[in-house]
Order: sequence, then C-alpha cells, then structure tokens
Amino acid sequence: RVVAVIMVGGPTKGTRFRPLSLNIPKPLFPLAGQPMVHHPISACKKIPNLAQIFLIGFYDEREFALYVSSISNELRVPVRYLREDKPHGSAGGLYNFRDLIMEDSPSHIFLLNCDVCCSFPLPEMLESHRRYGGMGTILVIKVSAESANQFGELVADPATNELLHYTEKPETFVSDRINCGVYIFTPDIFTAIQGVSTQRKDRANLRRLSSFDAIDSATSRNLPADFVRLDQDILSPLAGKKQFYTYESMDFWEQIKTPGMSLKCSALYLAQFRFTSPHLLASGDGTKSAAISGDVYIHPSAKVHPTAKIGPNVSISANARIGAGARLISCIILDDVEIKENAVVIHAIVGWKSSIGRWSRVQASGDYNAKLGVTILGESVSVEDEVVVVNSIVLPNKTLNVSVQEEIIL
Ligand code: GDD
Repeated sequence: RVVAVIMVGGPTKGTRFRPLSLNIPKPLFPLAGQPMVHHPISACKKIPNLAQIFLIGFYDEREFALYVSSISNELRVPVRYLREDKPHGSAGGLYNFRDLIMEDSPSHIFLLNCDVCCSFPLPEMLESHRRYGGMGTILVIKVSAESANQFGELVADPATNELLHYTEKPETFVSDRINCGVYIFTPDIFTAIQGVSTQRKDRANLRRLSSFDAIDSATSRNLPADFVRLDQDILSPLAGKKQFYTYESMDFWEQIKTPGMSLKCSALYLAQFRFTSPHLLASGDGTKSAAISGDVYIHPSAKVHPTAKIGPNVSISANARIGAGARLISCIILDDVEIKENAVVIHAIVGWKSSIGRWSRVQASGDYNAKLGVTILGESVSVEDEVVVVNSIVLPNKTLNVSVQEEIIL
C-alpha cells in the first residue's frame, strides 16, 4: 500500500501571495476553478493501491474541514488534514505524524509540496523508484540557468540517476536541474529524519557542556531539534550515498509563490483539462451561450450574458455575473464578482465580491514575474464606471473612481 502527504504550510507562509491570502489559505485559492491543492490530490488518484492522503499544515483545521470531507467523498479515498502546532519544516512536519502516516503500513510514501504546478507523474516515479532501490526519488526538471537559484539545484549521475550533489538556493550556479518539490520515499525516511534530530540534540548538549561552540554549521546552529528541512538537512548531507535518486520530468512545472504565477498556473491546468477533465471546460455551444475562445472554466452557478466574449485562460467562480458585451481574457474571476456591461478584464485577478463598472478596463501587461505584471483586486473592491486600472494591486474594500496605472492602492 501507498500513502500520499501534501505539505500545505500555514498562515505565516505564503506572504508573497497577498492580498489574495488575506481571505483564504493559499492552498485553497482556485486555479482553473479548483483549489490549488486539488490538483496534486487528484493526481494522487492515479497511484496504484493508494490507502490515504494526508494534508499537513499549521492552518486551523476548520479552514480545511469542508474541502477535505467533500474531496474524500468525491475520490473515495480518505483525505485527512493533520494540524501541526507550529512549523516543523518540510521533513519535521512529516516526522511529527509518522504514527498516523504508518497506520496502514505503507511500503511507500509520496510527499508533495502544495505550491507547485505540474503534471505530477506519480505512477512513473513509483516505478522508477522501485527500480533504483533507494530511500527516495526526487522529481527534477531542467530550468533556465538564470532562474535555477530560486530552487534547490542538484547534480545527478547521468547513467544511474543517483543524486550526487544537492544545494538549496545556492548563490553561485551549481546546476540547471532543480528539485520540483515532489518526492517518493520508503519508510526509512523517518530514520533519516530522526538521525538529524538526534544529532541536533547531541550538539546542543555538547555546546551546553563546553564553552567551545564552533562545532555546528552556521545554518543549523539555532534550529530546534524537531525542525528539520528536507532539502538542507536531509538531501544535502545524503547526496552521493546511494540513498536518493532522481526522476526527470519533460513536462511543465512551475512554482506558485505570487498571485501573478497563480494566473500562469491556472492556464497550465486549464490546458491539462483538455486531456484529464474536458467536461470542466466551457464549450460555447448553444445559442444562449457566450462566445468562448480557448480554455475557459465557468462555475455552473455563474451567469454569463450571451453577448459577452470569454477566453482564453479565464476561470469564473461561483455566483459571478458577467454583463452584456463584457470581454474577459487571461483572468481569474472569484466568487460573487459582478462585471458590468462592456467592461474589459485582461491579465487580472478580480477578488471576491468586487464589482467592475460599465465600460471600465482592468488590465496589465501579463508579465507573470513582474511585481505589477498582473492587476490584482482584493476582496470587495469597487471599480466605478469608465475607470481604467492598469498594472496595479488594489487592497480589499477600496473604491476606485479615477483611473490608476502602476500603483499599489493601500
Ligand atoms: N506543514 C508544513 N510545515 N508545511 C511546510 C512547512 C512546515 O513547517 N514548511 C514548509 N512547508 C510547505 C510549504 O507550504 C510548501 O508547500 C512546501 O512545504 C515547501 O516550502 P518551503 O520549505 O518554504 O520551500 P520552498 O518552496 O522555498 O522550496 C522548496 O520547494 C521547491 C520546489 O517547489 C525547496 O525544496 C526547493 O528546493 C524546491 O525547488
């Protein structure tokens, strides 16, 4: 049997995701109309003999209760939210719940970061992992040399795929192969984490006994024994010891740290729906339907006027109302938004309960990596008629009655 664990973090993480994370835990923010965490969860469905899925985080359980119960019913696999009292790091969080995770005596444990967007080739990883015979296999991908330093950079043996060297977010270039935040382990991983924790305790005791405290490396000196990071504390020291192997993805992969990237990832998941869930894509057939171009998701409760034109890369959430002649391109429209007649929204995220007036434009350049490359309206923002909002971020509850450009409205 196999179990899957998804690390969802907590309220002190995801700060770069503001203002969207002010309303909703980042893992529940919708991409292609489904909560972010839904995409890795539904990928787990393809794992043979999957017994359970655990979400580990330090958000309040109540924030996840509704989602966890509905997805358990839908997938017919138990999905449980396990709450950490405080952050224990990616490996420490896993270790903290080892008894629950090992309840079904799984032979393998998948560990997935919730803030990555990819095709999650999990069955293929499992098969390769069995062949390699190590303690763990890491999903890796080749990225541009300029962007690699935002991630864990690694070197693998081209013949055996063994992990030879691992450095987390290095200052000088090591490799353009990076850690995708998707792993498969045997239960031996718990022994490895326990080892790091014990070593920390021993060192702390030694320091207390002697005045000589230069033994520890600068990075882990002040960390509590139960805070263990998978990357720095496990992968780096165990690289080159025939314990970890790599599986290289040739598919898409992105990390979702900012609202701008969530718009890009929403497009990637909508495109994937063509193969995995075509029924979720709006077809635009029928005389009463709006004109649809490219990949579009429209929640069944949303009302879209037949003369509106929608797409590509648009997702429209529950109870949104899109007026006559409105034009939406590359945007995420959240619950209860109203977009009035002839308004235009391009490269933007429109927050819950916001309204956009007649003949208004809310738009941006669409540079996903730039700070203001996607226009973001927080919850309950009101853009009045004929107002133009370009490359801007607007915090919740603001009313805009004049046009703005390249501004952050606090
Ligand atoms: N439950 C829990 N508890 N989750 C955590 C904790 C914790 O203490 N710390 C981090 N997480 C979750 C985050 O929510 C995220 O989903 C994932 O674990 C990784 O977060 P970070 O540890 O902050 O690392 P990162 O995202 O900057 O980088 C990691 O992932 C990249 C791939 O996305 C590293 O492993 C990189 O090497 C890797 O490239």
